[in-house]
Amino acid sequence: MERPYPALPILTESERIAQASHAFERLATRRSCRAFADAPVPREIIEYAIRAAGTAPSGANHQPWHFAAISSLETKRTIRHTAEAEERRFYGDDMTAAKASDEWLSALDPLGTDASKPFLETAPWLIVCFAQRKGGIDEDGTTQNYYVNESVGIACGLLLATLHEAGLATLTHTPSPMGFLREICGRPDTEKPLMIIVAGHAAKGATVPDHAMRKKPLERIASWL
Ligand SMILES: Cc1cc2nc3c(=O)[nH]c(=O)nc-3n(C[C@H](O)[C@H](O)[C@H](O)COP(=O)(O)O)c2cc1C
Repeated sequence: MERPYPALPILTESERIAQASHAFERLATRRSCRAFADAPVPREIIEYAIRAAGTAPSGANHQPWHFAAISSLETKRTIRHTAEAEERRFYGDDMTAAKASDEWLSALDPLGTDASKPFLETAPWLIVCFAQRKGGIDEDGTTQNYYVNESVGIACGLLLATLHEAGLATLTHTPSPMGFLREICGRPDTEKPLMIIVAGHAAKGATVPDHAMRKKPLERIASWL
């Protein structure tokens, strides 16, 4: 069964160019935030952002994602404490465990990040994004899913863009390793946590590293054949 392609706005070419340029300008103001205020954010905004993520294209339309939206202080605290313990190992603060490679740590140097993650507790929302290896569109737990990471990556992009459009600050956070999030969120073994999207309002005086402002120009990220 087929149906007509959805109607899209009828615009002149210059109106389309203006729309594309406005969309770019709005998205270009997104910056990862690492200091959040504890001001609340209505659940409805998070619901719309997850709905937007759920419209993403996906391999065979299996929609291999699940978003666990957390606002409970107790759960956020548990995530913070567990993530900080992992991060202390990652950054080499915990001498009893293997740390990340020197190359990885020096790549993070310009961002000034460390093992302390207070935002995991202060931000009003943590959205843990899970990738489903299996399940299919009916989430039967056995049907193979395809292009899972690609599909979930696109969905997370739409989630971030919608939260940004709603005027919220976000951070893509990937504690390493992050398998512990599966248990905290009560998700099955067929799912893998890919990232936490932290959402809320930036704390007063929050800053961004200069490094984050360095975006590759169009000439370097595109070729025209
Ligand atoms: C997959 C992925 C994982 C990331 N993990 C972390 C993280 O664990 N901690 C963090 O502070 N930033 C993390 N970031 C944010 C990047 O550092 C940030 O996007 C980059 O420095 C560019 O800055 P911008 O987001 O402000 O443009 C991650 C981003 C992506 C896409």
